[in-house]
Order: sequence, then C-alpha cells, then structure tokens
Amino acid sequence: MDFAGKTVLIVGAGGMGLASARRFAAAGAHVVLSDIDAARLSEAKDALSCAIIAGDIAKPSECRRIVDEAFSLYGRLDMLLNAAGVWVEGPSEHLTEAEYDRVLDINLKGAYFLSAAAIAHLEAVQGQMIHIASDAGLMGNSGAAAYCASKGGLVLLVKALALELAPRGVRVNAICPCDVETPMLKGQAEIYGAGDPQAYREALKRFYPQGARTRFATPEEIAAFIFAVAGIEAITGAALQIDFGTTAGK
Ligand SMILES: NC(=O)c1ccc[n+]([C@@H]2O[C@H](COP(=O)([O-])OP(=O)(O)OC[C@H]3O[C@@H](n4cnc5c(N)ncnc54)[C@H](O)[C@@H]3O)[C@@H](O)[C@H]2O)c1
Repeated sequence: MDFAGKTVLIVGAGGMGLASARRFAAAGAHVVLSDIDAARLSEAKDALSCAIIAGDIAKPSECRRIVDEAFSLYGRLDMLLNAAGVWVEGPSEHLTEAEYDRVLDINLKGAYFLSAAAIAHLEAVQGQMIHIASDAGLMGNSGAAAYCASKGGLVLLVKALALELAPRGVRVNAICPCDVETPMLKGQAEIYGAGDPQAYREALKRFYPQGARTRFATPEEIAAFIFAVAGIEAITGAALQIDFGTTAGK
C-alpha cells in the first residue's frame, strides 16, 4: 500500500506510537501525533517534524477534537492508529474505583470514541484503524484484571467494528503484543517491582517459551508489523499476536 501523501493519526506518542510514527513517516505519510503528554509530543515534533495535537482520550469530546483537528490539517484521514494506553496491576480487591475508571476510560472508552469520531473520515477515503490491544486481551493475566478487562473489551470492540464497517470499506484490526521495551514496561517495573525492577522483568520472562533466549519485543518490531498489516487489504476483524508464542498455549 502506498502511504505517500496519506494522513496517519497516531494517538499515543510512547514507545510503539513513536516507532510507528517513524515507520509511516519514512513511507511518505503525513503523520499527526497525539498524546496527553505535551512534553513528549514536543520532543517528537523536533525529532520527526510531524504535526502534533495534545489531548486526553479519556474524554469523548477530546477524542472528537483530536480526530477532527488531524483531519483538518491535510483535508483527509486515511488511518487511525491507537497506541495510547495505561497499565495497572495489583490485587483486585485493592484497586480503587478511580484506578479502575482510569484504565477503562483510556484503554477502552478512549478507543471507542476515537474510532467513532474517525468513521466518517475513514469511510470517505476507504481507510482503516488499528488499535494496539495486548496479549492480555486474549488471555487472563493474573494480577491485572482491570487491564485485561480493558484489552479484552478492546479486542471485541475491534471485531464488532470491523463487521459493522466492512460494507462501508473501512478496515479495523487489533495488534496484540507481548511485553515490549517501551516507557510503559520501564514504568511498570519501577512502580510494581517492589524496589527491584530487574527482578520484575526477569519474572515476566518466565512466561516466554524461549527459555534462556527470551527477550522482549522492540517497538520497531511492533511498528514493522503494524505497517505490514496496514498494507494488506484482506486483513480485517483480526486480533493479531506478535508475542514470541506466549499466547500459543502452555
Ligand atoms: N509495552 C508493553 O509491554 C505493552 C504490551 C502489550 C500492549 N501494550 C499496549 O500498547 C499500547 C502502547 O504502549 P507503549 O508500550 O508504547 O506505552 P507507552 O507508555 O510508551 O505509551 C503510551 C502513551 O499513551 C499516552 N497516554 C496515556 N494516557 C493517555 C490519555 N488519557 N490520552 C492520550 N494519551 C495518553 C501516554 O502519555 C504515552 O505516551 C498501549 O495501549 C499498551 O497498553 C503495551
């Protein structure tokens, strides 16, 4: 697929969002990057010379504004890549309502209202959306019930939207990665690693079938996968693993 001159809105300027921005920009796309973190956006703008829009996707009105501003910049929107999200873990009986709302509002409600805002623009150019879900959207992850609920919900949101929008020429897919070397993973290990982030990372590696060869995926690998999926018209309604086999079984 030729992305030259096409507009790709990437929401979430963290590890995977930034790597994807580089990948689509290299293919000649107009990349518009959005995030709640204005400092992260201005760094990205300097590094990539892309357009930026600050916004909070937990609020439906902000989702609409981000999408409409991205459309206005170049007069078209060909692709929405939702790479925003937050992680929360811990015993379920201790999770506060505020923590639960935050993870669901960003990971699921934000995905829904970004999608809803993008439909008409994408239909006009027969475009597509890709949401980054997670391996935790395909199988349970002990100690991360709210995160799993958000990502499992996102996977079925994607499938339902794909069926609804297929007759209108819009494709919708989910990417389901394992652990990826990004600021999210670093933050997870620091916040939840009980003072030993390295031990937290090593504990995660026990779930991988590669044994001593285990490593985490890189943002660049995820970006290359997203770019490939975006280019194949036959893929829609899919929740695609990129996870070293962690969801293949045990
Ligand atoms: N890193 C991993 O191991 C991993 C694995 C599987 C899935 N995921 C998912 O992949 C996606 C990308 O993750 P990443 O690792 O690049 O994370 P990251 O933390 O590096 O980037 C996520 C970005 O989302 C932004 N964001 C958070 N709340 C927001 C809000 N309310 N509005 C707008 N932006 C907001 C953050 O500021 C951040 O820049 C997320 O949905 C994450 O849940 C991550």
